[in-house]
Amino acid sequence: MERSITILLLWCHLQGVGGQDWAVSLPQSVKGLQGSCVRIPCSFMLGQRWDTYLDHTCKAQWFKDFRQALVFDSSLAGDQNLYQGELEGNLLNRDCTTIFHNLPAFKSKLYFRIDCRSGLKYDNTTGVEVNVKDVWNPVLNPKGQVEVVEGRPVMLSCSAQTLCPDRPTLSWTPSLGDTQETVEDELVTSVLTFNASALHHRQRITCSSLYKRNTGQSDASFKQYLTLNVLYRPDNVSVEWPSSPVLEGSFVRLSCKGSANPPADRYAWYRSRLNPGTDQGPGEGPLSISQSINVLVSADAQYFCEVRNPYGAKNTSLTQMVVHCESTTMAHARLQNVSSYWVPST
Ligand SMILES: *[C@@H]1O[C@H](CO)[C@@H](O)[C@H](O)[C@H]1NC(C)=O
Ligand SMILES: *[C@@H]1O[C@H](CO)[C@@H](O)[C@H](O)[C@H]1NC(C)=O
Ligand SMILES: *[C@@H]1O[C@H](CO)[C@@H](O)[C@H](O)[C@H]1NC(C)=O
Ligand SMILES: *[C@@H]1O[C@H](CO)[C@@H](O)[C@H](O)[C@H]1NC(C)=O
Ligand SMILES: *[C@@H]1O[C@H](CO)[C@@H](O)[C@H](O)[C@H]1NC(C)=O
Repeated sequence: MERSITILLLWCHLQGVGGQDWAVSLPQSVKGLQGSCVRIPCSFMLGQRWDTYLDHTCKAQWFKDFRQALVFDSSLAGDQNLYQGELEGNLLNRDCTTIFHNLPAFKSKLYFRIDCRSGLKYDNTTGVEVNVKDVWNPVLNPKGQVEVVEGRPVMLSCSAQTLCPDRPTLSWTPSLGDTQETVEDELVTSVLTFNASALHHRQRITCSSLYKRNTGQSDASFKQYLTLNVLYRPDNVSVEWPSSPVLEGSFVRLSCKGSANPPADRYAWYRSRLNPGTDQGPGEGPLSISQSINVLVSADAQYFCEVRNPYGAKNTSLTQMVVHCESTTMAHARLQNVSSYWVPST
């Protein structure tokens, strides 16, 4: 009876001073990984005149609902608590930092309370939001389909939450360039920089975050990916023609091919005579502005084509018709690449 009056008096008194003598300092929220630890940094301010009431009988408690659903009591043995853990801080030093082990997934506020036999009791309606999940994906920026221009520098960033017991390890696959890591607040960020090349077009780039767990459970790894859309000028340009031998004097259809992003939007055909100076040669206007052209099979004419998109242009190598006389009555001609003859400037 006597004790409960003391408690009541103290209680009223502490409530009455409204934060002047008392204040607990907690982060707004704490994040955790299921099956791993969660550390809640906690400290409190207590006026000096209560020093004698703060003794070794004091215990730290955590509630899931304010003053109900006790989930942790520092005076109980580990396995007697719903959420097992340890009071890491020393209450005599006004440190109530608590570490929980092997938590299940949940999202709820936890409320701290100090409870001493001396009658000193304190709690606070401002809890800490605890969010324990089984997946913590890293965050990419930019994300999804990322458009870049060939030759220009690209910067991709990937951030992951620091979770108990340690920071995650971030990695990029493939690692196309230099990576730089920074740690700020609760976030680890890795920035990947490289120069975009046409070879990176449609490439999928993955950022992985690896978390170690301190509870004997296996490590957890989370991934996010983006896809590069590289805008590049025509590349791998070539002239296509029928593979079977062609007759001299007949017409053959040449087709111009090349990869480009966006696709080529202009083709131009040029002819070059083996005996220069006769009629058309390099440097003169195009024969035709189309992807395909019908040409007369002739031993002394060479053709090439220019492929263009908004990012640039490229010329194919020259084609030459070589006439093979396979019978006395019929001359067969075959087309072949003669890039050694004359390499157009690119
Ligand atoms: C309760 O806790 C919050 C958060 O730490 C603090 O800002 C507030 O002052 C406390 N209230 C009292 C009455 O101690
Ligand atoms: C990107 O290109 C620039 C200029 O050509 C060069 O200085 C830089 O080292 C390149 N960066 C990478 C990651 O290769
Ligand atoms: C060009 O062709 C080569 C060889 O086939 C290939 O490795 C490369 O990816 C191609 N480049 C583009 C941009 O398509
Ligand atoms: C001509 O060259 C292109 C690219 O250099 C090649 O893809 C093609 O197969 C060649 N054609 C012949 C007939 O050799
Ligand atoms: C391709 O050849 C034509 C004719 O010689 C020339 O005018 C053009 O500049 C060339 N294009 C490229 C990309 O080299």
